Parts: sequence; structure tokens; C-alpha cells
Amino acid sequence: PKVAVLMGGPSAEREVSLSSGRECAAALRGEGFEVVELDAGPDLYVRLLDIKPDVVFNALHGRWGEDGCVQGLLEWLRIPYTHSGVLASALAMDKQRSKAAFHIAGLPVAESVIEAKSEVAARHTMEPPYVVKPNNEGSSVGIYLVHEGANTPPKLADDMPELVMVEQYVAGRELTVTVMGDRALTVTEIMTDGWYDYDAKYKPGGSWHVLPAEIPQDIFDLCMGFAKQAHDLLGCKGVSRTDFRWDDSKGAEGLFLLETNTQPGMTPTSLAPEQGAHCGITFGQLCAWMVEDASC
Ligand code: DAL
Ligand code: MG
Repeated sequence: PKVAVLMGGPSAEREVSLSSGRECAAALRGEGFEVVELDAGPDLYVRLLDIKPDVVFNALHGRWGEDGCVQGLLEWLRIPYTHSGVLASALAMDKQRSKAAFHIAGLPVAESVIEAKSEVAARHTMEPPYVVKPNNEGSSVGIYLVHEGANTPPKLADDMPELVMVEQYVAGRELTVTVMGDRALTVTEIMTDGWYDYDAKYKPGGSWHVLPAEIPQDIFDLCMGFAKQAHDLLGCKGVSRTDFRWDDSKGAEGLFLLETNTQPGMTPTSLAPEQGAHCGITFGQLCAWMVEDASC
């Protein structure tokens, strides 16, 4: 089959997506697929009609590629695509609405509100420590940590959206679980010297991974179960990755689900492929499975 790998695009995570896309394209060629690499621009519709792929491998991250928009186009064109569909993508990308769904289902989420940017910059929206972030970006783009005891509210950059999420900060450890189809793979702990921001995520040496995470079995099992529940609740498909923070001084009460990513990073050293490798699934096999699992 002919596979078009969608990458790049106009989102704030363009560079991350180009890395994911190139690596997935190379891996799929290695698995014997005919691959066309496609930087997703405004002419995407025309390019797809021209290329006529059997499957689209979606390696986009962030807005337009992860939020249901491109999924809608692919449904319209009747081209099977990897990862989640329109509804799951749109819901997962909207942090506040997906958190509302998690909360109703009994999954633990940190307290948060959506506020106007001007309000957030004028006074403390909640007792610090708290985090301010766009409601719909990934990779920690535009995220602010307001430390405990901070006197002043954060100075937000002009390019932040008019409405932002303010979320109680959970001190502690960063954990993540990949779900592949109906299976939660394992728990990874992400270690950093400081704050797990964009640089820590993508600069060499900025963060490192411990997998399986060295945490108590009950916390490990809770993370695995919550990730699977979140994937199913949102209606995700293929591969998703659910991120947690755990305050280890509080036991199971200290575990909070941050978000589910429907288009997790897909370079061989990204979290999801690393978890696959830990379970004996090579990067090539993972990409090939995603193509075979594609639908519309
Ligand atoms: N948003 C990045 C790509 C991730 O979640 O892996
Ligand atoms: Mg994310």
C-alpha cells in the first residue's frame, strides 16, 4: 500500500512533527511500504487527491493536526488514517473539556479554570503554586509555572490565546503511559533537573526516562488502568499517551491525570516508541501496526 506521511503543518509543534514524520517515513520504508512525505500546508486537499494514498499516516502534532481538523478532511476524502478520529481528537485537545469528562468518570484531575488572559495577568487566579497554559497546545508551548509564595501573577506573552487554563500545580513526579489499541504498554518516569518544559522535552540531555518507572506497584497499576480508561472514554484509536503527575508524599491520593495526547511524539527515542520497544515491539513494527490499524 501507498502511505502518505503527514508532517509539519502550521502548529506551534511544527518542528517536533517534522522529526516524528521523517522518522516514521523512514521506518515504514524499511517495512516495505511505498511512502510519500507530505508537509501539511493549505494545499493539502489537492495534494492528497493527486497522490491518492491508500492510508494517511498522521505524524502531525498540535492544532489542526491533532484536534480533529485534519481528521475531518480525511473522513471527507474517505482516506483511512492512523490514530484517533474527529471527536476523540477534538476532545483530547481541549484540556478543560477532556478534564471535565475525566472528572465525571471518576479519574483524578487537578483543579483548573479557564480565565481571560488579562484577568490571569492582573491577579492570582488561585493560590500558588499553579500553572498557566493554553487550553489547546502540546509540548509545553506557552506554559507558566507560578511558584508557591509568588507575589505577582505571571506576565503572559502577547501570543498567548485570549482564554487560558489555570491549573493547580501538582508537585512531584512526571509519569506517562502509552496505550496501543487495547493494551497499556508500561509506565515511564520522566526525570529532569528542573521544570519539564519545551527545552527539557526536546534538547539533548534535557530530560531522561526510567522505564519501567520505579514506583510502588499500586501506583503503577493505577496509571496503567487510568490511561486505558482515558483512551476508551475519549474514544481514542491506535496509539495514545496519557500523562500524569504524582506527589509521592501522598500515596495514591497524590496521583493526577494531566492529559491524553492523541498524537504522541513518534521519534524512536520518544516516549511511546520507547515503551513499545520495552514490550518487544520495534519502531518499524509499531509504525506498520498503526498503518494496518488505520480507518476512516
Ligand atoms: N505533544 C507531543 C508531541 C507529545 O505529546 O508527545
Ligand atoms: Mg500534550
